[in-house]
Amino acid sequence: MKRKEVLAYLADFDLEVQRVGDVLLEGKQHAVYHYGDDQIIKVPKRSLYMKLYGAIDYDAVLRDVTLLQTHLSEFVVPTQVLQSRRNPDQYVILQAYLPDAIYITGDRFPAIREDFARIVAVNRHFIEQHRLSIDFFGNIGFRRSILASLLRRREMALLNNLLLVERDGRAHIKITDVNLSELRLWWNADVKLFHWIVDSAVFTITQLLIRDHFGIDG
Ligand SMILES: Nc1ncnc2c1ncn2[C@@H]1O[C@H](COP(=O)(O)OP(=O)(O)OP(=O)(O)O)[C@@H](O)[C@H]1O
Ligand SMILES: [Mg+2]
Repeated sequence: MKRKEVLAYLADFDLEVQRVGDVLLEGKQHAVYHYGDDQIIKVPKRSLYMKLYGAIDYDAVLRDVTLLQTHLSEFVVPTQVLQSRRNPDQYVILQAYLPDAIYITGDRFPAIREDFARIVAVNRHFIEQHRLSIDFFGNIGFRRSILASLLRRREMALLNNLLLVERDGRAHIKITDVNLSELRLWWNADVKLFHWIVDSAVFTITQLLIRDHFGIDG
């Protein structure tokens, strides 16, 4: 995303735009920028992919963050969702920056197996009660983990929506991607068809990957 475009978008939020620093990286849904020394800001992208998928709105992100903070508070990175003054559907996510966080890989998995199993158990409740699910793998992680399954190389599996941090001599999971996937059995006109296909396919494959790589039923 062009910096000028990002700054114009951010001008409608209660933010100190001079604190917006360099880009950390760009995911599929957000461009992630440093914000001051200890925070990052996630700005929704306007890529072709997001045009097809449809913009995610403030209410949905707030719903997701609230659910995660209520049921998985110890794992969620401190996160705030801000609403645009001009367009109440628009949002940005402010989050504590974890400079030492690393991806969860197949070979690091044993260190965080217990955390992961607890998160998956709570996610089952999200699925049953709210028809929402954590997107465990993230974009790079999803593709890498499918390849790892095909090649039967478990150590190659990777999650980039949940990250690993070392605290007090132990590895912990931190959930950084706070957007939950909406699960619908059938497509309806509430969402774009592309959105429904992506979310349904990602959810189904994610369940298979979690079972295959980590031996846990999602
Ligand atoms: N709080 C954080 N501290 C450090 N790095 C972070 C943080 N949040 C996100 N990141 C990095 O930015 C990447 C993308 O963030 P996020 O998953 O929120 O965006 P996304 O658009 O959903 O990306 P993707 O399409 O990969 O899922 C993460 O995989 C991680 O490497
Ligand atoms: Mg992500």
